[in-house]
Amino acid sequence: MGISQGVLCKQSVECAFRRHFDSSPTWVVRAPGRVNLIGEHTDYNDGFVLPMAIDRAVWIALRPRVDRRLIVHSLDCDARTNLTLDELRRGDHDWTEYVKGVAWVLQERGDVLRGWEGIVVGDVPVGAGLSSSAAFELALARAFAAVSDLPWDAATMALLGQRAENEWVGVRCGIMDQMISAAGRAGHALLIDCRTLHTEAVPFPSETTVVVLDTATRRGLVDSAYNQRRGQCEATARAFGVPALRDVSVERFAEESVRLDEETRRRAWHVITEIERTLQAAEAMREGNASEVGRLMNASHDSLRDDFAVSSRELDVMVECGRAHPACFGIRMTGAGFGGCAVALIRRELAGSFTSQVAASYRSATGIEPVVYVCSATEGASLV
Ligand code: GLA
Repeated sequence: MGISQGVLCKQSVECAFRRHFDSSPTWVVRAPGRVNLIGEHTDYNDGFVLPMAIDRAVWIALRPRVDRRLIVHSLDCDARTNLTLDELRRGDHDWTEYVKGVAWVLQERGDVLRGWEGIVVGDVPVGAGLSSSAAFELALARAFAAVSDLPWDAATMALLGQRAENEWVGVRCGIMDQMISAAGRAGHALLIDCRTLHTEAVPFPSETTVVVLDTATRRGLVDSAYNQRRGQCEATARAFGVPALRDVSVERFAEESVRLDEETRRRAWHVITEIERTLQAAEAMREGNASEVGRLMNASHDSLRDDFAVSSRELDVMVECGRAHPACFGIRMTGAGFGGCAVALIRRELAGSFTSQVAASYRSATGIEPVVYVCSATEGASLV
């Protein structure tokens, strides 16, 4: 989905639908992107994450068809796909694979789908680590559910979205992105137990706000490095004789990790301490203790940089620039890493000064123009 600075709303997608299909849509659905406050590379280790759904989203305006065709027009790609639900075939890796992947996964579990036609548009920047793919998958799931009258359960739909991503699109992600896009709560972060999919809405400390800081760098390395880290974590869990690193306590790891090689030890140490930090951050949020949340976010970044080794020079520069500003409680890279965005928790009344000064210092340190903005926590995938 293309960048259009968060200006999308129900009216603009309805308007586009009328232009393309000469009538009003029957439904408009919206599914948000996300920013993760803390709990990075913990989801595929059955751990905890603390993301929020943001005010950047994928929107679909649609109406049912009497046949089993799908006609979907993407405004961002200025392209249209026309296919039948009876013959879904893998093609080139482009946006239409998500449409087919979500249809495939629903039919796989036995749902009888009706065809539909619609307009899709989004303002979650692609490749920035804000989960534009999960937002698209959940928007599609919401659209199919509306047209085909399927029951909507956020966790079930998140799992189906993840399966479409894993098995159709071919990206081995965890459950965090789909889960927060499906189950986000306005004004709250969501503590997600990635083993049970239990969620708890956690309020923000008063007088704070969340800022997304896009380094404007995108790294191709992400997929291979992600799979490699994931493999290392799974191998370490096996070495400890447990299903996932979630099951190894900090104490046990400190005692028994001497037998691991240095690199493997550091990767697992990040995950095990990050799970602890995430639970502590949720507790600090409940207590309204912004300084403690910030301290944990800073520690998370340092661990991702030094032990998990998924940061980048630009992310580290952005984090240093943010930490130098008096409004900043804490700042860290967010998402898979190697480029994309940082996230900061800051004093709300200083948001204007924070965003302009940090953008200026990053620009002068790197020569790159960043995109820095305050964002608010929104509801998960819904009919609007
Ligand atoms: C990507 C994946 C998520 C999660 C994060 C790292 O966003 O899609 O499942 O693993 O990286 O925390």
